[in-house]
Amino acid sequence: QTEISRVRNLTRIQMGAHEIEPWYFSPYPIEYTEEDMMYICEFCLSYFGELRQFERHRAKCTLLHPPGNEIYRDDYISFFEIDGRRQRTYCRNLCLISKLFLDHKTLYYDVDPFLFYCMCTRDEYGCHLVGYFSKEKDSAEGYNLACILTLPQHQRKGFGRLLMAFSYELSKREGKLGSPEKPLSDLGLLGYRAYWQETVIDILMEGRSEVTVEELSALSAMTTNDVLHTLQNLNMLRYTKGQHVIVLTDAVVAAKEKQKEKEKLKKRHNIDPERLQWKPPV
Ligand code: COA
Ligand code: NA
Repeated sequence: QTEISRVRNLTRIQMGAHEIEPWYFSPYPIEYTEEDMMYICEFCLSYFGELRQFERHRAKCTLLHPPGNEIYRDDYISFFEIDGRRQRTYCRNLCLISKLFLDHKTLYYDVDPFLFYCMCTRDEYGCHLVGYFSKEKDSAEGYNLACILTLPQHQRKGFGRLLMAFSYELSKREGKLGSPEKPLSDLGLLGYRAYWQETVIDILMEGRSEVTVEELSALSAMTTNDVLHTLQNLNMLRYTKGQHVIVLTDAVVAAKEKQKEKEKLKKRHNIDPERLQWKPPV
């Protein structure tokens, strides 16, 4: 892999109703980086250096949703599954966009080994991309997610949590435990820590008083390693007589109550497993 400059090379991009300032370098062709603005078609993800070219494209582009099967739909969002091999251009364009907001990842030009799960909100104009994650078709390390992005204009609204929850729903369907590819970015780690803590605490608060690490893992599709680390971070793990014991401390119970208060103000959405129309690829 060639070492590429990390200097941010695009000033601004326009995508759908939003103007966004990129965070990092992304290897778009050099001629595009000289423009003040790059225009990205929010449906097919093609990019243009000039407004007139972009408008000509928009007049012709017929796509109203990501080019794959809709495998999930509820009142709030839809998920589309896209095969990197069948939709190379779309998936490469998606990787180019996500590199604008990812510092550390080497960009995958070879999208063939990946599936892309695109999350959209819907309105009368179509399905608008909010975020996505990619997943190796066959991960030797047991990763259930390679790359995750919430478009910056939609961050901190709970969409990352939904993407993560969805990746674990797929793992549950596969009958596997999963974990995201390492290393995680700073934001990735913050997001996952929040998701893992919430998930583990939810199960503990709902369920029986006696639950083992393995049971937590089976119920969440999180690896036992991720469960253990989460419990450790929450200071909920005691080791006595050669055994791990999970203690639901008062502090954690209080934190959960506080979280519930917060959720009353900010509507929290969840993934409904019954709405997932999906079988693991064979
Ligand atoms: N600062 C502190 N905590 C943050 C955070 C931030 N900037 N962003 C997310 N979190 C934590 C918070 O606990 C948050 O819950 P809260 O908003 O109720 O406090 C929780 O994560 C969930 O946030 P959510 O709104 O669901 O996440 P998101 O839609 O913003 O998406 C990422 C999270 C990681 C997908 C997003 O930051 C992103 O796309 N980053 C750029 C790409 C990237 O780094 N991807 C990860 C590669 S491994
Ligand atoms: Na990642």
